[in-house]
Amino acid sequence: MGSGCFACTGPKVDEKDRIQQAIDTLKCTASWDVKNHSPWNEGETSSSGSRPIAAHIFSYRELAAATKFFRADFLLGEGGFGRVYKGMLESGNQIVAIKQLNPNGLQGNREFLVEVLMLSLLHHPNLVNLIGYCADGDQRLLVYEYMPLGSLEDHLHDLSPNKRRLDWNTRMKIAAGAAKGLEYLHDMASPPVIYRDLKCSNILLDEGYHPKLSDFGLAKLGPVGDNTHVSTRVMGTYGYCAPEYAMTGQLTVKSDVYSFGVVLLELITGRRAIDNSRGAEEHNLVAWARPMLNDRMKFRQIADPVFQGQYPPRGLYQALAVAAMCVQEQPSMRPLMADVVTALSYLSSQPNKPENQQRPNTYRLTATSTPHRARRDGEKKLRWGSESDQLRRLK
Ligand SMILES: Nc1ncnc2c1ncn2[C@@H]1O[C@H](COP(=O)(O)OP(=O)(O)OP(=O)(O)O)[C@@H](O)[C@H]1O
Ligand SMILES: [Mg+2]
Repeated sequence: MGSGCFACTGPKVDEKDRIQQAIDTLKCTASWDVKNHSPWNEGETSSSGSRPIAAHIFSYRELAAATKFFRADFLLGEGGFGRVYKGMLESGNQIVAIKQLNPNGLQGNREFLVEVLMLSLLHHPNLVNLIGYCADGDQRLLVYEYMPLGSLEDHLHDLSPNKRRLDWNTRMKIAAGAAKGLEYLHDMASPPVIYRDLKCSNILLDEGYHPKLSDFGLAKLGPVGDNTHVSTRVMGTYGYCAPEYAMTGQLTVKSDVYSFGVVLLELITGRRAIDNSRGAEEHNLVAWARPMLNDRMKFRQIADPVFQGQYPPRGLYQALAVAAMCVQEQPSMRPLMADVVTALSYLSSQPNKPENQQRPNTYRLTATSTPHRARRDGEKKLRWGSESDQLRRLK
């Protein structure tokens, strides 16, 4: 699978600066009070039983043995960083995923370092757990918990014939879980962590389709003090990158909110963020969907035909309302991830009932749903009133 990553033109950063930036990241992150924000309760484990522990340093020999010398039939996939293999650790019989840096690939030592730093400090049930890493000589390998259901991309777009199609409820649960992972990154620390690479292939699925965000090599610390953004080279994936970030390199947490809106649209429509196999006006998912998001009569045309009508109509409207707010052009008009989590947790807890069995929509998201971080001036809050209110807001 291709990575689709790109680096637009911008101030050139040499390798020394990159490493210095990573060291700065470590200095800042070391002051995070991660324990107090940890959602892991005493004795709690993830669905795969892997409660996070400190990253272990592996030798190359251990990881070569775990993958039978990187045998082709152990290959799980390939991205911009390199190949990913399934492996069995000698110690403890644990199954893991081992990602091997391709020295000629699109990503390098800096991404490796950032990934190790970030995942050593950040722990949440919706973030993939880094078990350890190897930095022997020129070799750079990352060892993660193995996610048995692969990536969301495999279930939504690259579906093999024997795979079941994701139903509405499962998609909403995946969306809510991914949103919780992002909310944790945005709200657990000051400055927040901006993920920068949200897309279907980076949402991995544990047993029960429990989603976890992976790939933190592009993650960045957000603005501090009076700064409204951080300026950086534009990195990310076409189709998911917020327009203001792609144009100016100015990065905020709202860039992640935009990418989340694209993923939510993919879940609702079953379409790819960019699909060049479709007609020109349908290449870009957001550009195709946006005019229809203003027209209630077209909502049903947006839903993935695979559902064959098996979705709650009100749930569809509400999920589209959330997606529409997330992909707004103006970053300040996009909601906070905390509010997205509230909305999607509500949606994913609703049984998938036909229209005539649904209760009238009386659910409201209010300011009290807003969590740890104070809402900034002008920041939009998701508030659902009657359907007509909601539709008016979409216009
Ligand atoms: N922890 C894991 N458990 C199981 N499978 C994994 C794991 N990590 C990655 N994979 C598999 O390997 C594939 C490649 O992952 P990788 O992150 O290297 O590339 P990508 O996400 O497709 O592209 P990019 O480099 O742009 O992120 C994934 O799509 C997934 O199927
Ligand atoms: Mg990836």
